[in-house]
Amino acid sequence: MRDITLSTTYSSLSTELLDWYDKHARAMPWRISPSERKSGIQPDPYRVWLSEVMLQQTTVAAVREYFTRFTARWPSVCDLAAAQDADVMAEWAGLGYYARARNLLKCARMVSTELDGVFPSTYAELITLPGIGPYTAAAIASIAFDQPEAVLDGNVERVMARMYDIHDPLPGSKPVLRDCAANLTSAARPGDYAQAVMDLGATICTPRNPACGICPWVTPCAARQAGTAAFLPKKIPKKPKPTRYGVAYIARTHDGSWLLERRPDKGLLGGMLGWPGGDWSDIPALVPPFETAWTEIAGEVRHTFTHFHLILSVRCATVPTGYNLQPSQHLIANDDLRRSDLPTVMRKAFDLYQTHV
Ligand code: ADE
Repeated sequence: MRDITLSTTYSSLSTELLDWYDKHARAMPWRISPSERKSGIQPDPYRVWLSEVMLQQTTVAAVREYFTRFTARWPSVCDLAAAQDADVMAEWAGLGYYARARNLLKCARMVSTELDGVFPSTYAELITLPGIGPYTAAAIASIAFDQPEAVLDGNVERVMARMYDIHDPLPGSKPVLRDCAANLTSAARPGDYAQAVMDLGATICTPRNPACGICPWVTPCAARQAGTAAFLPKKIPKKPKPTRYGVAYIARTHDGSWLLERRPDKGLLGGMLGWPGGDWSDIPALVPPFETAWTEIAGEVRHTFTHFHLILSVRCATVPTGYNLQPSQHLIANDDLRRSDLPTVMRKAFDLYQTHV
Protein backbone atom coordinates (compact mmCIF):
# COMPACT_ATOMS: atom_id res chain seq x y z
CA MET A 1 0.00 0.00 0.00
CA ARG A 2 1.38 3.39 -1.00
CA ASP A 3 1.32 6.43 1.20
CA ILE A 4 -0.43 8.96 -0.98
CA THR A 5 -0.39 11.59 1.74
CA LEU A 6 3.24 12.48 1.00
CA SER A 7 2.29 14.75 -1.85
CA THR A 8 -1.27 15.69 -1.01
CA THR A 9 -3.28 16.11 2.16
CA TYR A 10 -6.49 14.20 2.78
CA SER A 11 -8.48 17.40 2.88
CA SER A 12 -7.21 18.60 -0.47
CA LEU A 13 -8.07 15.17 -1.93
CA SER A 14 -11.65 15.42 -0.75
CA THR A 15 -11.83 19.00 -2.05
CA GLU A 16 -10.71 17.83 -5.49
CA LEU A 17 -13.39 15.17 -5.50
CA LEU A 18 -16.06 17.59 -4.27
CA ASP A 19 -15.14 20.10 -7.01
CA TRP A 20 -15.70 17.31 -9.52
CA TYR A 21 -19.00 16.33 -7.86
CA ASP A 22 -20.23 19.95 -7.96
CA LYS A 23 -20.07 19.71 -11.76
CA HIS A 24 -20.92 16.05 -12.39
CA ALA A 25 -23.27 14.87 -9.60
CA ARG A 26 -25.82 12.42 -10.99
CA ALA A 27 -29.40 13.55 -10.53
CA MET A 28 -31.47 10.99 -8.60
CA PRO A 29 -35.02 11.34 -7.29
CA TRP A 30 -33.90 10.97 -3.66
CA ARG A 31 -30.96 13.37 -3.88
CA ILE A 32 -30.58 17.06 -3.38
CA SER A 33 -28.01 18.72 -5.63
CA PRO A 34 -24.74 20.13 -4.25
CA SER A 35 -26.01 23.68 -4.87
CA GLU A 36 -29.25 22.97 -2.98
CA ARG A 37 -27.25 21.65 -0.04
CA LYS A 38 -24.97 24.70 -0.12
CA SER A 39 -28.05 26.92 0.02
CA GLY A 40 -29.11 25.21 3.27
CA ILE A 41 -31.67 22.71 1.92
CA GLN A 42 -31.50 19.35 3.73
CA PRO A 43 -32.48 16.00 2.20
CA ASP A 44 -35.58 14.24 3.55
CA PRO A 45 -34.24 11.40 5.80
CA TYR A 46 -37.23 9.22 4.85
CA ARG A 47 -36.30 9.42 1.17
CA VAL A 48 -32.60 8.83 1.91
CA TRP A 49 -33.41 5.80 4.09
CA LEU A 50 -35.86 4.34 1.57
CA SER A 51 -33.44 4.77 -1.33
CA GLU A 52 -30.52 3.30 0.59
CA VAL A 53 -32.51 0.21 1.60
CA MET A 54 -33.62 -0.23 -2.01
CA LEU A 55 -30.05 0.26 -3.25
CA GLN A 56 -28.70 -2.56 -1.06
CA GLN A 57 -27.84 -5.21 -3.68
CA THR A 58 -29.79 -3.38 -6.43
CA THR A 59 -28.65 -0.92 -9.12
CA VAL A 60 -29.58 2.75 -9.28
CA ALA A 61 -31.30 2.12 -12.63
CA ALA A 62 -33.57 -0.58 -11.18
CA VAL A 63 -34.37 1.41 -8.04
CA ARG A 64 -35.52 4.69 -9.66
CA GLU A 65 -38.95 3.44 -10.73
CA TYR A 66 -39.66 1.61 -7.45
CA PHE A 67 -38.60 4.63 -5.43
CA THR A 68 -40.90 6.93 -7.39
CA ARG A 69 -43.87 4.59 -6.97
CA PHE A 70 -43.25 4.06 -3.23
CA THR A 71 -42.93 7.77 -2.45
CA ALA A 72 -46.01 8.65 -4.53
CA ARG A 73 -48.05 6.06 -2.61
CA TRP A 74 -46.43 6.56 0.82
CA PRO A 75 -44.97 10.10 0.99
CA SER A 76 -43.80 9.86 4.61
CA VAL A 77 -42.49 7.23 7.00
CA CYS A 78 -45.80 7.35 8.91
CA ASP A 79 -47.76 6.69 5.69
CA LEU A 80 -45.56 3.68 5.02
CA ALA A 81 -45.89 2.48 8.61
CA ALA A 82 -49.69 2.48 8.23
CA ALA A 83 -49.62 0.45 4.97
CA GLN A 84 -50.84 -3.14 4.70
CA ASP A 85 -48.00 -5.68 4.60
CA ALA A 86 -49.37 -7.26 1.41
CA ASP A 87 -49.47 -3.88 -0.39
CA VAL A 88 -45.85 -3.16 0.48
CA MET A 89 -44.73 -6.65 -0.56
CA ALA A 90 -46.60 -6.24 -3.87
CA GLU A 91 -44.93 -2.85 -4.56
CA TRP A 92 -41.56 -4.39 -3.73
CA ALA A 93 -42.12 -7.42 -5.98
CA GLY A 94 -39.36 -7.68 -8.58
CA LEU A 95 -36.72 -5.82 -6.53
CA GLY A 96 -35.56 -9.05 -4.88
CA TYR A 97 -34.07 -9.73 -1.44
CA TYR A 98 -37.50 -9.60 0.15
CA ALA A 99 -36.25 -9.56 3.75
CA ARG A 100 -35.42 -5.94 2.95
CA ALA A 101 -39.11 -5.15 2.44
CA ARG A 102 -40.16 -6.85 5.66
CA ASN A 103 -37.46 -4.99 7.60
CA LEU A 104 -38.42 -1.77 5.83
CA LEU A 105 -41.91 -2.07 7.27
CA LYS A 106 -40.62 -3.01 10.73
CA CYS A 107 -38.29 0.00 10.69
CA ALA A 108 -41.02 2.38 9.44
CA ARG A 109 -43.34 1.21 12.22
CA MET A 110 -40.64 1.61 14.86
CA VAL A 111 -39.77 5.14 13.68
CA SER A 112 -43.45 6.03 13.43
CA THR A 113 -44.59 4.70 16.81
CA GLU A 114 -41.50 4.90 19.01
CA LEU A 115 -39.71 7.92 17.54
CA ASP A 116 -42.67 10.14 16.58
CA GLY A 117 -41.88 9.67 12.90
CA VAL A 118 -38.41 11.24 13.23
CA PHE A 119 -35.37 9.32 11.99
CA PRO A 120 -32.38 9.39 14.37
CA SER A 121 -29.37 11.25 13.01
CA THR A 122 -26.37 9.30 14.32
CA TYR A 123 -24.73 6.11 13.11
CA ALA A 124 -25.02 4.59 16.61
CA GLU A 125 -28.79 5.08 16.74
CA LEU A 126 -29.46 4.24 13.09
CA ILE A 127 -27.67 0.89 13.30
CA THR A 128 -30.09 -0.30 16.00
CA LEU A 129 -33.05 -0.10 13.56
CA PRO A 130 -34.28 -3.14 11.56
CA GLY A 131 -32.65 -3.57 8.16
CA ILE A 132 -29.97 -0.93 8.79
CA GLY A 133 -26.45 -2.38 8.76
CA PRO A 134 -23.08 -0.61 8.82
CA TYR A 135 -23.22 0.57 5.21
CA THR A 136 -26.78 1.90 5.40
CA ALA A 137 -26.28 3.57 8.81
CA ALA A 138 -23.20 5.39 7.47
CA ALA A 139 -25.00 6.35 4.26
CA ILE A 140 -28.04 7.79 6.07
CA ALA A 141 -25.95 9.56 8.73
CA SER A 142 -23.74 11.17 6.10
CA ILE A 143 -26.20 11.86 3.27
CA ALA A 144 -29.25 12.86 5.32
CA PHE A 145 -27.55 14.42 8.36
CA ASP A 146 -24.10 15.49 7.10
CA GLN A 147 -22.29 13.39 9.71
CA PRO A 148 -18.66 12.49 8.83
CA GLU A 149 -19.28 8.73 8.46
CA ALA A 150 -17.44 6.72 5.81
CA VAL A 151 -19.59 4.74 3.38
CA LEU A 152 -18.11 1.54 1.99
CA ASP A 153 -20.04 -0.15 -0.78
CA GLY A 154 -18.63 -2.09 -3.73
CA ASN A 155 -17.91 1.10 -5.69
CA VAL A 156 -16.07 2.71 -2.79
CA GLU A 157 -14.06 -0.47 -2.14
CA ARG A 158 -12.84 -0.38 -5.72
CA VAL A 159 -11.93 3.31 -5.56
CA MET A 160 -10.00 2.81 -2.29
CA ALA A 161 -8.19 -0.33 -3.48
CA ARG A 162 -6.96 1.67 -6.48
CA MET A 163 -6.19 4.95 -4.70
CA TYR A 164 -3.95 3.07 -2.25
CA ASP A 165 -2.89 0.24 -4.62
CA ILE A 166 -4.09 -2.46 -2.21
CA HIS A 167 -3.49 -5.96 -3.54
CA ASP A 168 -4.89 -8.00 -0.63
CA PRO A 169 -8.05 -9.63 -1.91
CA LEU A 170 -11.62 -8.90 -0.79
CA PRO A 171 -13.39 -9.67 1.47
CA GLY A 172 -10.33 -9.88 3.80
CA SER A 173 -9.15 -6.39 2.82
CA LYS A 174 -12.42 -4.73 3.86
CA PRO A 175 -11.17 -3.33 7.21
CA VAL A 176 -8.16 -1.73 5.51
CA LEU A 177 -10.35 -0.28 2.76
CA ARG A 178 -12.72 1.02 5.43
CA ASP A 179 -9.81 2.85 7.12
CA CYS A 180 -8.79 4.34 3.78
CA ALA A 181 -12.37 5.50 3.15
CA ALA A 182 -12.57 7.01 6.64
CA ASN A 183 -9.28 8.90 6.16
CA LEU A 184 -10.52 10.51 2.96
CA THR A 185 -14.03 11.43 4.20
CA SER A 186 -14.60 15.17 4.11
CA ALA A 187 -15.23 16.86 7.45
CA ALA A 188 -16.63 19.92 5.68
CA ARG A 189 -19.19 18.28 3.34
CA PRO A 190 -19.63 14.63 4.40
CA GLY A 191 -23.02 14.13 2.73
CA ASP A 192 -21.89 15.32 -0.69
CA TYR A 193 -18.56 13.53 -0.26
CA ALA A 194 -20.27 10.15 0.37
CA GLN A 195 -22.27 10.51 -2.83
CA ALA A 196 -19.29 11.85 -4.76
CA VAL A 197 -17.13 8.83 -4.03
CA MET A 198 -20.00 6.50 -4.96
CA ASP A 199 -20.54 8.41 -8.22
CA LEU A 200 -16.82 8.30 -8.99
CA GLY A 201 -16.87 4.51 -8.61
CA ALA A 202 -20.04 4.16 -10.69
CA THR A 203 -19.09 6.43 -13.58
CA ILE A 204 -15.27 6.81 -13.81
CA CYS A 205 -13.47 4.30 -11.60
CA THR A 206 -15.45 1.46 -13.17
CA PRO A 207 -14.54 -2.24 -12.84
CA ARG A 208 -13.31 -2.55 -16.43
CA ASN A 209 -11.71 0.24 -18.47
CA PRO A 210 -11.60 2.91 -15.77
CA ALA A 211 -11.66 6.38 -17.32
CA CYS A 212 -8.48 7.55 -15.56
CA GLY A 213 -7.94 10.35 -18.09
CA ILE A 214 -10.92 12.30 -16.72
CA CYS A 215 -10.64 11.24 -13.07
CA PRO A 216 -10.25 14.02 -10.49
CA TRP A 217 -7.92 11.70 -8.55
CA VAL A 218 -5.74 10.64 -11.48
CA THR A 219 -2.60 12.24 -10.02
CA PRO A 220 -2.71 10.88 -6.46
CA CYS A 221 -4.04 7.43 -7.47
CA ALA A 222 -1.34 4.89 -6.51
CA ALA A 223 -2.68 2.11 -8.76
CA ARG A 224 -2.73 4.46 -11.72
CA GLN A 225 0.95 5.22 -11.10
CA ALA A 226 1.75 1.52 -10.72
CA GLY A 227 -0.33 0.52 -13.78
CA THR A 228 -2.45 -1.87 -11.70
CA ALA A 229 -5.80 -0.03 -11.63
CA ALA A 230 -7.58 -2.36 -14.04
CA PHE A 231 -6.64 -5.41 -11.92
CA LEU A 232 -7.96 -4.07 -8.61
CA PRO A 233 -9.64 -4.86 -6.34
CA LYS A 234 -8.58 -8.49 -6.18
CA LYS A 235 -11.24 -10.89 -4.96
CA ILE A 236 -11.14 -14.44 -3.58
CA PRO A 237 -12.97 -16.46 -6.24
CA LYS A 238 -16.52 -17.36 -5.20
CA LYS A 239 -17.62 -21.00 -4.92
CA PRO A 240 -19.68 -22.09 -7.94
CA LYS A 241 -23.43 -22.05 -7.22
CA PRO A 242 -25.29 -25.37 -7.08
CA THR A 243 -28.42 -25.93 -9.18
CA ARG A 244 -31.73 -26.76 -7.55
CA TYR A 245 -34.94 -27.98 -9.18
CA GLY A 246 -38.62 -27.49 -8.50
CA VAL A 247 -42.12 -27.37 -9.95
CA ALA A 248 -44.52 -24.42 -10.08
CA TYR A 249 -48.16 -25.57 -10.09
CA ILE A 250 -50.35 -22.98 -11.79
CA ALA A 251 -54.03 -23.66 -11.25
CA ARG A 252 -57.19 -21.67 -11.99
CA THR A 253 -60.75 -22.17 -10.85
CA HIS A 254 -63.59 -22.64 -13.35
CA ASP A 255 -64.30 -18.92 -13.14
CA GLY A 256 -60.68 -17.97 -13.82
CA SER A 257 -59.28 -17.15 -10.36
CA TRP A 258 -55.65 -18.09 -9.67
CA LEU A 259 -54.48 -20.33 -6.84
CA LEU A 260 -51.54 -18.63 -5.11
CA GLU A 261 -49.69 -19.08 -1.85
CA ARG A 262 -48.32 -16.45 0.49
CA ARG A 263 -44.86 -17.76 1.41
CA PRO A 264 -43.85 -17.86 5.07
CA ASP A 265 -42.25 -14.62 6.34
CA LYS A 266 -38.92 -16.29 7.05
CA GLY A 267 -36.72 -17.60 4.27
CA LEU A 268 -36.36 -17.16 0.55
CA LEU A 269 -39.06 -14.94 -1.05
CA GLY A 270 -40.45 -14.60 2.48
CA GLY A 271 -43.86 -12.92 2.62
CA MET A 272 -44.27 -12.93 -1.17
CA LEU A 273 -47.02 -14.47 -3.29
CA GLY A 274 -46.05 -17.47 -5.37
CA TRP A 275 -47.29 -20.53 -7.20
CA PRO A 276 -47.67 -23.61 -5.01
CA GLY A 277 -44.94 -26.27 -5.23
CA GLY A 278 -42.66 -28.21 -2.93
CA ASP A 279 -39.21 -27.28 -1.72
CA TRP A 280 -36.50 -26.72 -4.29
CA SER A 281 -33.71 -29.25 -4.05
CA ASP A 282 -31.22 -31.41 -5.99
CA ILE A 283 -34.09 -33.50 -7.33
CA PRO A 284 -37.50 -31.92 -7.96
CA ALA A 285 -40.00 -32.72 -5.20
CA LEU A 286 -43.46 -33.30 -6.67
CA VAL A 287 -45.82 -31.63 -4.19
CA PRO A 288 -48.94 -30.48 -6.07
CA PRO A 289 -51.58 -28.54 -4.10
CA PHE A 290 -54.12 -31.23 -5.12
CA GLU A 291 -54.08 -34.51 -7.01
CA THR A 292 -55.23 -34.35 -10.62
CA ALA A 293 -53.86 -34.92 -14.11
CA TRP A 294 -51.48 -31.95 -14.24
CA THR A 295 -50.37 -30.83 -17.70
CA GLU A 296 -46.64 -30.23 -18.03
CA ILE A 297 -45.84 -27.09 -19.97
CA ALA A 298 -43.00 -27.35 -22.48
CA GLY A 299 -39.88 -25.44 -21.50
CA GLU A 300 -38.41 -24.44 -18.17
CA VAL A 301 -37.81 -21.41 -16.00
CA ARG A 302 -34.29 -20.48 -15.03
CA HIS A 303 -33.54 -18.06 -12.23
CA THR A 304 -30.46 -17.31 -10.15
CA PHE A 305 -30.62 -16.53 -6.43
CA THR A 306 -27.69 -15.45 -4.29
CA HIS A 307 -26.66 -18.99 -3.38
CA PHE A 308 -28.04 -21.24 -6.14
CA HIS A 309 -29.39 -21.49 -9.66
CA LEU A 310 -32.98 -22.70 -9.93
CA ILE A 311 -34.64 -24.65 -12.75
CA LEU A 312 -38.41 -24.88 -12.49
CA SER A 313 -40.84 -26.82 -14.60
CA VAL A 314 -44.40 -25.52 -14.81
CA ARG A 315 -47.56 -27.64 -14.58
CA CYS A 316 -51.12 -26.47 -14.89
CA ALA A 317 -54.61 -27.72 -14.02
CA THR A 318 -58.09 -26.59 -13.01
CA VAL A 319 -58.86 -26.23 -9.30
CA PRO A 320 -61.51 -28.84 -8.38
CA THR A 321 -64.91 -27.49 -7.30
CA GLY A 322 -65.13 -27.48 -3.50
CA TYR A 323 -61.34 -27.36 -3.06
CA ASN A 324 -60.46 -26.41 0.54
CA LEU A 325 -57.86 -23.67 0.64
CA GLN A 326 -54.96 -24.12 3.05
CA PRO A 327 -54.29 -21.15 5.36
CA SER A 328 -51.40 -19.89 3.19
CA GLN A 329 -53.42 -20.20 -0.04
CA HIS A 330 -55.51 -17.53 -1.75
CA LEU A 331 -57.77 -17.48 -4.78
CA ILE A 332 -57.12 -14.25 -6.61
CA ALA A 333 -59.59 -13.08 -9.26
CA ASN A 334 -58.06 -12.59 -12.69
CA ASP A 335 -58.76 -8.84 -12.60
CA ASP A 336 -56.99 -8.55 -9.24
CA LEU A 337 -53.77 -10.34 -10.18
CA ARG A 338 -51.08 -8.12 -11.62
CA ARG A 339 -47.95 -9.84 -12.92
CA SER A 340 -46.02 -7.11 -11.12
CA ASP A 341 -47.33 -8.33 -7.73
CA LEU A 342 -45.20 -11.47 -8.12
CA PRO A 343 -41.49 -11.87 -7.44
CA THR A 344 -39.38 -12.28 -10.57
CA VAL A 345 -39.06 -16.08 -10.51
CA MET A 346 -42.86 -16.43 -10.17
CA ARG A 347 -43.35 -13.95 -13.03
CA LYS A 348 -41.11 -16.11 -15.20
CA ALA A 349 -43.27 -19.16 -14.42
CA PHE A 350 -46.39 -17.13 -15.21
CA ASP A 351 -44.87 -15.97 -18.52
CA LEU A 352 -44.00 -19.54 -19.53
CA TYR A 353 -47.53 -20.63 -18.67
CA GLN A 354 -49.06 -17.80 -20.72
CA THR A 355 -46.99 -18.51 -23.83
CA HIS A 356 -48.38 -22.07 -23.90
CA VAL A 357 -52.02 -21.72 -22.89
N1 ADE B 1 -25.55 3.53 -4.16
C1 ADE B 1 -26.07 3.45 -2.94
N2 ADE B 1 -26.43 4.65 -2.46
C2 ADE B 1 -26.13 5.54 -3.44
C3 ADE B 1 -26.25 6.93 -3.55
N3 ADE B 1 -26.78 7.65 -2.57
N4 ADE B 1 -25.80 7.50 -4.68
C4 ADE B 1 -25.29 6.73 -5.64
N5 ADE B 1 -25.15 5.44 -5.61
C5 ADE B 1 -25.57 4.82 -4.51
